[in-house]
Amino acid sequence: MTKDKKNTIKYKLDAKDKFVIETGISDQNGVIKPRMHKKFKQIGRFTEILSDKLTQSGAINQKRVKVIDIGAGKGYMTFAIYNYLAKRDLDPVIHAVDFNEDLMKLGNETANKCGFENLSFISGFADQYSGLAYYDAVVSLHACDTATDDALFMGLKMKSKVILCAPCCQKEVLVNLKEKKSLSKFVTHGLFLHKMADLITDNARVMLLQSQGYHVDVIDFVASEHTQKNTLIAATKKSGKKPAFYEKYKSYKSEIGFDGIKLEQMMLEEGLLG
Ligand SMILES: C[S@@+](CC[C@H](N)C(=O)[O-])C[C@H]1O[C@@H](n2cnc3c(N)ncnc32)[C@H](O)[C@@H]1O
Repeated sequence: MTKDKKNTIKYKLDAKDKFVIETGISDQNGVIKPRMHKKFKQIGRFTEILSDKLTQSGAINQKRVKVIDIGAGKGYMTFAIYNYLAKRDLDPVIHAVDFNEDLMKLGNETANKCGFENLSFISGFADQYSGLAYYDAVVSLHACDTATDDALFMGLKMKSKVILCAPCCQKEVLVNLKEKKSLSKFVTHGLFLHKMADLITDNARVMLLQSQGYHVDVIDFVASEHTQKNTLIAATKKSGKKPAFYEKYKSYKSEIGFDGIKLEQMMLEEGLLG
């Protein structure tokens, strides 16, 4: 396939693809099961956006594209990404990490059935994983709490071309805001504080990505009826470090009144913010 042709193909997930049936999203006739519509929509849209970002970053012109998926769970999205890259002749290598051993075993069995040779599911904690020295893209879809920070850190440390994370629940800033009472004393309802803590966390993550020279888009990647956790942080490496963003982050922390997030701690320990 020529470079030009590769760059103009738009990705669309097909409910009849083998992996969609093998993972139980569709039935044997390729019809999406009623309870799986939302997941089908999420992984399809996420993969479309990954496709755009790989194109923008130039990774689409490589012979091989390497991706790591953090907090992969049953691997619906991992399979969707492998399937997409394989269809585009990008000779994918995909690793998926999750501490749920049973799901990782199931993922490897399904990968075998689908003939996805270079797809491996690995059990372990995200912040202890040491796989390849470099992945072109780091992705995570609803990796719980600070596992999203682990994914972002992995991408920043290896300077991946693309980092795509849809965060899940988070407790770190919420607990911190409750303890410090600086902001929480003005908030009338717990639900507001939860939502504010999510936004404060994601905004902090964006600034830290920007400090390392990433261009960041933040989008609602699917309609909220498909998931309430529909914020996607999409980062592409553009330049060297931009320390001004870290200075801004530090003012942000003190003005809002929280102590920081795991991502910052890991970046400091790695010497990325010095
Ligand atoms: C809500 S599920 C999302 C699964 C999948 N990405 C999806 O969207 O279908 C979150 C997954 O993250 C995994 N997880 C949470 N924290 C983790 C950590 N620190 N290291 C590895 N896996 C983690 C859980 O075991 C779980 O399978």
